[in-house]
This record gives sequence, C-alpha cells and structure tokens, in this order.
Amino acid sequence: DDAANLKARAPVVTIMGHVDHGKTSLLDALRGANVQAGEAGGITQHIGAYQVKTPDGSQVTFLDTPGHEAFTEMRQRGANVTDIVILVVAADDGLKPQSIEAINHAKAAGVPIIVAINKVDKEGANPQRVRERLLEHELVVEEMGGDVQNVEVSALKKTGLDKLLGAIAVQAEIMELKANPDRAAEGTVVEAKLDKGRGPVATILVRRGTLKVGDIFVCGAESGRVRALIDDQGKQVKTAGPSMPVEVLGLGGVPMAGDTLTVVENEARAREVAAYRQSEALKRRTVQAPV
Ligand code: GTP
Ligand code: NA
Ligand code: MG
Repeated sequence: DDAANLKARAPVVTIMGHVDHGKTSLLDALRGANVQAGEAGGITQHIGAYQVKTPDGSQVTFLDTPGHEAFTEMRQRGANVTDIVILVVAADDGLKPQSIEAINHAKAAGVPIIVAINKVDKEGANPQRVRERLLEHELVVEEMGGDVQNVEVSALKKTGLDKLLGAIAVQAEIMELKANPDRAAEGTVVEAKLDKGRGPVATILVRRGTLKVGDIFVCGAESGRVRALIDDQGKQVKTAGPSMPVEVLGLGGVPMAGDTLTVVENEARAREVAAYRQSEALKRRTVQAPV
C-alpha cells in the first residue's frame, strides 16, 4: 500500500567536515541566517536541522553536525538519516583528520558525497590541491574523470551557493527520493533536551507519513501526545511531512538522539510499546553490566 502512495521528498543533507572549516557558516549563508555568531566560542554543540528553499523552489533539509572529535558518535547517528553528505573542506587548510573521518562515515553509510571547497576567498586557498588529495581517498572529482561533484564556495563572501544547491538537486534527482506522506508518521530524533519552560523537547526529522498536532506517539522509551509542532523558523505548524525537521512538544520524557518516533493508534498502545522498549533497554543494560 505504501508503494502506491510514494511522493517525492526533499533530500536530507548532512554537513560534515573538520573543525572550523566553515560548516555552520556555510549553512548560515545558505539559510541567509546568522547562527554561527550566536554560538558559544563559535563551536556547534548540537545538531541543527533546517530547511532551505533552492532557487528552483524545491526544498533541501540540512543537518549541521559538531566538529569536535568527541561528537563522532553523534555524527555517525547523523549519517544514518542522511541522503547526501556535504563535505566541507577549507581550501587554505586542506584535508584534515576529521575530513577523512567524514569521508569514511559517508562511505560506510553508502551515502554520496558532494565536496564544498570553502574559504576560496582566503589568501593561500588551493582548491586544486584539495581535489588532488581527495583522490587518495577514492573520491574522484568530475574534472578528473570521476563522478564526485565539487563546488568552490565562500561562506563569508556568499559565492558558489547557488551552484552548491544545484549540485544537491542533481544528486537528489539521481536518487529519486520518495516517501508516503499519507500514513501515520515515523521520524528520527536528531536532538532532544529538557526545556525549562516547555518540558521535554525533541527535534524530529520526519521520515515518512505526516506528523500532526494531537497525534499519540512512542519516541524511544517515552510516549506522549503532540502538543505543538515548531518549524526551523520558530513558527508553530499543524503538520510536518517527510524530510521536514520539527520541534515536538508533548513528550513524557527526554528521548535520545537517534531514537525513533512512531505514531500509534491510542494511548494504551503507546504505553504498551513504551513499557516494552523500557524493559528492553533495561535488559540491555543488565546484560552489558560488568561481571
Ligand atoms: P565547528 O562547528 O566548530 O566544527 O566549526 P565550523 O566548521 O562550523 O566552522 P564555522 O562556521 O564556525 O567557521 C569557522 C571560522 O571560519 C569562522 O571564524 C568563520 O568566520 C570562518 N569562515 C567560514 N567560512 C569562511 C569563508 O568562506 N571564508 C573565510 N575567510 N572565513 C570563513
Ligand atoms: Na567553529
Ligand atoms: Mg559549526
């Protein structure tokens, strides 16, 4: 039944790369926003999720990941929901350990990579050197006869951005990304926290179906009912379809990044599934406890 109802959905793009190569700045430039300046120490501490409209009117969902080594696990989770990885490489700094790590994550997840060679405005920028170094990691760019798209950009000067969005559109078209919006929603937690005023809040990336205010759900080992949905602009919305990132209020507790949200038919079913998942989680902890 699902197959008959499949409709095109926006690609989910994760921005990866070495610390300070300009992931957040590039996403800011694409969004026309300024998140980077508001971050503590200019370091991304969580996964941001945003939708960007391309010049041709289609949507792209972006996930921004932290650049620190300590966040490798989070990055791996990010790769699981990702259709396309944008590898940001600073043209003046070249390929670094975390650039290579990102290449390996993307390859392990079977996700195509588009390389954004950033900071081309800087003195000492050497985009050709980046393209050559990519060869050592079996990423052969189009100029060298391969099929890996690369785009020279400057997040600072806002150059190459439309070209990058165009490259994403080309890759997305090849992949024919689809989902059924007309079913009970299923999504993935990209981040979750306990908000002082609002209680447990999770950013959910809807994978299929449409999430609605009032829906009863299980999210990891927590259950709840959607009290409000808030989009990436901070606006309240009534529904969220496939590939849309949305903040969900109405959780009974704080789930974990990577958890699945599943809409169920009623509260009894929600409690039953949540209790089962809690007991499973408890069993796993018991089994893993050192003897
Ligand atoms: P982490 O999240 O900490 O890993 O960093 P990031 O990759 O998100 O990099 P961020 O956007 O914080 O940028 C790091 C620094 O590079 C900042 O000082 C930016 O202003 C600067 N920067 C980013 N893009 C460009 C660019 O295109 N040109 C120049 N000259 N500087 C840039
Ligand atoms: Na930074
Ligand atoms: Mg950042």
